[in-house]
Amino acid sequence: MAGPLMILLIGSLLQAFLLAAYKQKINLPKIVQVMTGSCVTIPCSFDVEDQYEQNLNNQCTAIWRSTTTGDVAQLTDRNPQTGDLTKKNCTTTFSNVKTGPTRNYYFRIDCGNPLKWSYSSTYVKIEVTDNFPSPTLTPSTLKIKEGESVSLTCSAPAPCLPHPPTLIWTPKLGDIQETLQEKLDKTKFKTSVMNFTASHLHNKQNISCTAGYKKQDGSSDAALTTSLIPDVLYSSKNVTVSVSPSGPVLENSNVTLTCNSDANPAEQNYTWYRADGGQETVFGTGKILNITVSMNRKSFFCKAENDVGEQHSN
Ligand SMILES: *[C@@H]1O[C@H](CO)[C@@H](O)[C@H](O)[C@H]1NC(C)=O
Ligand SMILES: *[C@@H]1O[C@H](CO)[C@@H](O)[C@H](O)[C@H]1NC(C)=O
Ligand SMILES: *[C@@H]1O[C@H](CO)[C@@H](O)[C@H](O)[C@H]1NC(C)=O
Ligand SMILES: *[C@@H]1O[C@H](CO)[C@@H](O)[C@H](O)[C@H]1NC(C)=O
Ligand SMILES: *[C@@H]1O[C@H](CO)[C@@H](O)[C@H](O)[C@H]1NC(C)=O
Ligand SMILES: *[C@@H]1O[C@H](CO)[C@@H](O)[C@H](O)[C@H]1NC(C)=O
Ligand SMILES: *[C@@H]1O[C@H](CO)[C@@H](O)[C@H](O)[C@H]1NC(C)=O
Repeated sequence: MAGPLMILLIGSLLQAFLLAAYKQKINLPKIVQVMTGSCVTIPCSFDVEDQYEQNLNNQCTAIWRSTTTGDVAQLTDRNPQTGDLTKKNCTTTFSNVKTGPTRNYYFRIDCGNPLKWSYSSTYVKIEVTDNFPSPTLTPSTLKIKEGESVSLTCSAPAPCLPHPPTLIWTPKLGDIQETLQEKLDKTKFKTSVMNFTASHLHNKQNISCTAGYKKQDGSSDAALTTSLIPDVLYSSKNVTVSVSPSGPVLENSNVTLTCNSDANPAEQNYTWYRADGGQETVFGTGKILNITVSMNRKSFFCKAENDVGEQHSN
């Protein structure tokens, strides 16, 4: 007889509980990595049940606790800086983070009034590490033709909001554009985009991006570097002919002509031409040409050609 009523009662209690649980929500990243002696910002926003809205005031304090029982959180020796709790912003920056075991932390608000709440079912893992990740370069390898435009992106985590990393390109090859971006979990990263036009001079040249992080524990700032060696394809260049032996030679003696050039890819086809009074005839192929010298003066030149293009010598 009391059955339906009971179900109704339980149902509404459950609903109220779920509503309350929903209202006691907090948004935290699952994990943040921080460099020893540096600072870290934990992006955080929370909600409270409607009846406690009025209790949010300037007296509210933020407390971060380790989920490890009996563990006194020893993240930092300075008071953390916290976002505006009255706006439900619990974003917190810890300075000079000490090295220690990786711990999970949850947030507690205490307003010195009925609003005292531990959001202990959601926590953030704070990993203090000396092996902080190096910046990432996109693309990570580069194979491109000379003359094409290149856009390289360097991105590095920015764990501490007041001190984002500096990103430096070596060498600086063109225009650079920096932005601070946010991931889905609200943690930040900094990107630097460098645009330039590929030249043969960049071939096999080490291009690197260095992320600099400020330390607050008196140790020197950290610099993490990622580099790439581009493969710039270019057509045959600096095509010259060398003659051996050099200098005057006897008639009917043999001389060796060598076609020298620089190209990437280095595989090239060589064609030799003989210039006969304005007319050019193909005389041979191959990098090296042996000829027998004759009295009637003729001039020779070579053409070097790779997949990208060709060039003639003088
Ligand atoms: C929360 O506070 C932090 C630190 O003061 C601030 O950078 C951030 O923009 C705030 N977030 C929102 C959503 O207002
Ligand atoms: C770099 O190149 C990208 C893609 O080509 C372009 O979207 C961006 O505006 C360029 N940035 C600068 C600083 O020139
Ligand atoms: C490129 O230069 C950087 C900085 O000088 C260096 O750390 C890195 O080892 C170099 N990379 C290669 C592949 O030589
Ligand atoms: C061509 O030769 C000049 C002078 O020796 C040199 O400076 C230049 O780098 C060379 N170019 C290539 C593509 O090797
Ligand atoms: C020059 O080369 C030709 C053919 O390769 C050969 O028959 C001749 O003996 C050579 N002459 C000399 C002087 O080496
Ligand atoms: C050209 O001559 C050199 C030296 O006389 C000889 O070693 C070489 O085999 C010759 N090359 C060709 C392609 O005939
Ligand atoms: C060289 O010549 C061969 C035969 O003509 C051709 O198949 C090949 O593509 C050429 N290679 C280059 C690098 O030009």
